[in-house]
Amino acid sequence: MTVRTVLWDAKPHTLAKHEILRRYLGAWFNILCKTFRHAVYIDGYCGPGEYKGGEPGSPVIALDIAESCEQCRNSQLSFYFIDDTKSRINNLNKVLAGKQCRLASSIAVLHGDFADQVQPVLNMLPDRKQSTIPVFSFLDPFGVCIPLSIIQRLLSKPSSEAFIYFSALDAIRNVHNESERNRLDAAFGTCGYAEAAHAGDKKALLDLYMQQLKKSAEFLIRFEMRDTASSELYSLIFASNSEDGFYKMKEAMWSVSNAGVFAFTDAYSENQPALFGSDEPAVQAARDLIVKRLVGKGKAKCFIIRRFIKYESYYLEKHMNAALIQLESEKLLVTCNEKELEPRRRKNFFPDELDIIIHSQPQGQNLLKF
Ligand SMILES: C[S@@+](CC[C@H](N)C(=O)[O-])C[C@H]1O[C@@H](n2cnc3c(N)ncnc32)[C@H](O)[C@@H]1O
Repeated sequence: MTVRTVLWDAKPHTLAKHEILRRYLGAWFNILCKTFRHAVYIDGYCGPGEYKGGEPGSPVIALDIAESCEQCRNSQLSFYFIDDTKSRINNLNKVLAGKQCRLASSIAVLHGDFADQVQPVLNMLPDRKQSTIPVFSFLDPFGVCIPLSIIQRLLSKPSSEAFIYFSALDAIRNVHNESERNRLDAAFGTCGYAEAAHAGDKKALLDLYMQQLKKSAEFLIRFEMRDTASSELYSLIFASNSEDGFYKMKEAMWSVSNAGVFAFTDAYSENQPALFGSDEPAVQAARDLIVKRLVGKGKAKCFIIRRFIKYESYYLEKHMNAALIQLESEKLLVTCNEKELEPRRRKNFFPDELDIIIHSQPQGQNLLKF
């Protein structure tokens, strides 16, 4: 979808995307401003700052969150807003002129192509861990057009994270168009997407894109959104090298889906319950993951399971706890060192040091009745 007017209507998926951004930034500013004296926020495809119905655009959302963050008072926050459409930049400047932004140390509104405009910003940022300036980039173009090399450069900075919009459908629609091939090649960082795009294989395109991002980000999480009117699928992908950032974003995604704003499903994986939907299927899915991972493997500390669910799955700690409670009630979970634990284990709690074994059959019952 490419929009030609300066402003456009905020669709339900836009509002949901903004809600995720709002919730994540609430956590990001608070945590980082406690630790670092300087943080950078880049909105690479920032838009006009507002929607037709008066809803705030992403730059305003970020500034408002920073403004409401207590921790930010002691830090230097630099904002870069980039857009290649002059009329939208003009509109954004107008919107920002009417805003109070006391906590932003600097706000740069840059007109031009993201890839060109962001280079000098990146050149200013340190490459070494010793002088980290955390960077959060929101990259929300209309189609697949962010050069992968730029995302890789961004993510190579210490404590850098990117929240990226991706539309497999855009690649499918435009792969036939010779004049669009350069931008697609650059976005995927390979020509290898063309076969999947010609075949209309959205899952293969998304998998390839995730694989490419994985080369520069240890933690990736994606969120599928279906626009109910057109049934078009969009993905929001969060790429980070911080496990805390990854978990915070996962919480933000879950909290938005639970607010019932929009229907979010993992439309690409068959036989999977809806992701980021209601908690019940998520508990079942977390339970099945734990069984798959641990059956036949002997003793495991709960600490290991907690890390696995938190950082290697779509699910939250609360889903893990509910799944373990269920497994214990099914007698598939047996505890090993409960008596040795200090303080004593409370019912339905799974402290890190607790050793458990997951069995494929219920334990402690006489299953064979003659
Ligand atoms: C989906 S809109 C952004 C909406 C905004 N992030 C928000 O949430 O309110 C995409 C924006 O990217 C801009 N754009 C498209 N190609 C661009 C490029 N190569 N560099 C910078 N901006 C670009 C468009 O003018 C448009 O305003």
